[in-house]
Amino acid sequence: MEKRIKTLVLFGSAHRDGNTAYLVDTFLNKINADVTFLDCLDIKPCIDCSKCLESGKCHINDKLTRPLEDIDSYGLILCASPLYFNQPTPMLLSTLSRFQSLYLGKKKLNSKACIILTGGGGEAVNSGDAEKTLRIALRCAGITDICYIRSLHTDTVSANDDKAALAELNSCIKKIKGE
Ligand SMILES: Cc1cc2nc3c(=O)[nH]c(=O)nc-3n(C[C@H](O)[C@H](O)[C@H](O)COP(=O)(O)O)c2cc1C
Repeated sequence: MEKRIKTLVLFGSAHRDGNTAYLVDTFLNKINADVTFLDCLDIKPCIDCSKCLESGKCHINDKLTRPLEDIDSYGLILCASPLYFNQPTPMLLSTLSRFQSLYLGKKKLNSKACIILTGGGGEAVNSGDAEKTLRIALRCAGITDICYIRSLHTDTVSANDDKAALAELNSCIKKIKGE
């Protein structure tokens, strides 16, 4: 039987029925995942309280507390966000700031990560800066095995019609399943 992949979804869009959500839902429907879904709007940011420096764990109490404590158990971290000013949304960045506790707690994960980005910024669209920012955040937890799904012209082609994005999605699924 196919192994269930324990997956932490950090959802950085404001729209549960938007372009980013479409790709997240399509992705999750194609893997056998045990999913913890966090809407980044519900997550508090790191405030540099430094308590994790001594205890090695984040002392903020919210929906991310438990997943951070159990972070070793996740096989996949899925970060999904629209581009805002060619960066991940403030909601996703704010959530990922809590990974600083993993860095200071010297946790090195074996998890894989998948980054889903959508943008509709016309000719100026560029996901490279956002990818780099997310790579830095994920590296705090030692995660370097990352695949990408990008739908970058949602102003003219919505994510559900974006063949290139769906091809990236299928190739990420294969990589994550080790096929
Ligand atoms: C404040 C704001 C800034 C944005 N900046 C960019 C941008 O820099 N580049 C881009 O390609 N799209 C930009 N967009 C467009 C969104 O990324 C795009 O519409 C995205 O597909 C929305 O995803 P959603 O349907 O999940 O909300 C911006 C949208 C907003 C609201």
